[in-house]
Amino acid sequence: MIPDFATTVAQRLDSLAQISEEDGGLTRTFASPAMRRANELVGEWMREAGMSIRTDAIGNLIGHYSGATPDAKILLLGSHLDTVRDAGRFDGALGVLVAIACVQHLHETKTRPPFAIEVVGLADEEGLRFQSTYLGSRAMAGTFNTEDLKRTDVHGVTMAEAIRGFDGNPDAIGTARMDASRLIGYVEVHIEQGPVLERKNLAVGIVSAIAGQTRVRISFIGEAGHAGTIPMDLRRDSLCAAAEFVLATESLAQARSGLVATVGEISARPGAGNVIPGETILSLDVRHPDDAVRRGACADLKSCADKIAAGRSVIVNWETVHEIVSVACERRLMSLLESATKRYQNEVPILSSGAGHDAAAMAAICPVAMLFVRCKGGISHNPAEFASEADIGVAVAVMNDFLKLLAAESE
Ligand code: HGY
Ligand code: MN
Ligand code: MN
Repeated sequence: MIPDFATTVAQRLDSLAQISEEDGGLTRTFASPAMRRANELVGEWMREAGMSIRTDAIGNLIGHYSGATPDAKILLLGSHLDTVRDAGRFDGALGVLVAIACVQHLHETKTRPPFAIEVVGLADEEGLRFQSTYLGSRAMAGTFNTEDLKRTDVHGVTMAEAIRGFDGNPDAIGTARMDASRLIGYVEVHIEQGPVLERKNLAVGIVSAIAGQTRVRISFIGEAGHAGTIPMDLRRDSLCAAAEFVLATESLAQARSGLVATVGEISARPGAGNVIPGETILSLDVRHPDDAVRRGACADLKSCADKIAAGRSVIVNWETVHEIVSVACERRLMSLLESATKRYQNEVPILSSGAGHDAAAMAAICPVAMLFVRCKGGISHNPAEFASEADIGVAVAVMNDFLKLLAAESE
């Protein structure tokens, strides 16, 4: 085992989790003052690990550890530094801090692999602020949609203004694209956010694929009215239409194996107890390992929304705000991770990911692989999210051995 960095990683996770834009919980969004403070703190840790640091046009934090030669290819490690609302402290941050620990070990042992390493703290994986996800990794992969710059947050701030306020450059997002010819791949350590590793009583597992996902913004538009005077049969209640759609979504997903569909956000306007909601806006998140099944489900859900709207004389607007296809992890990187894991576990589970990850976006520019770490009860996107120091130690050791195996193969 390499020097026990697990305690350092655990302590740093706690320090990073104190950087939030909301009292009483961890919420850190894209291009926010909290994200700036997080980048400063993580940047310090990167420097201590012998890395030079830079921030790209969209606000990704990048630590560079030189390889044995100046023209050495680059291995990308890391994950995202943004969070969901009222988040756990491991989602994203664990991957960045394990990567820094591995580089710190190289630095302390004065080791220069035959490749450079860039540890990335990605700017926005969750999409909380602008409902469009993978902003940082899409910019790195060259798949960023400049139309997204016009999106506004709840305060009416556009994404372009937010990037500018973060000392980024919305007019030069293209400069954040990495040079594919120099990349070996992107390897991300992340909590599993599911129950499989805990059920197998194993610390880590290897990801085979990341499920594709579609995110939709739906609004039902009826007619606001007085709650006391409009008879039930004359109402065009947008919230009742939305409620019928939510339950229809649940039934459809329950009937299709492997499909998950979630309405996570709903807001009824004007939002007064004595006013029939004139407009109700909801989010829809649909995922499945098979893209055809996911797309078919989205089409059926759209027809269902249309039918409900027609039956209630309301209007329905359907805007797909994000779609990404299923992504397979690269066999060679997976097999090196498996060989490294076998040194610490006599079983190496291979599991697919229902959760989305930046690796899905990075796959557009380089081979990707992921190492999952057991998390208690499979709980995530919740302050109760937890991974043990012992399991973090296994992840650091596996990644350290992975680097050695990759170096041996590259020489
Ligand atoms: O939604 C997801 O799967 C990820 O946590 N952003
Ligand atoms: Mn997440
Ligand atoms: Mn995540």
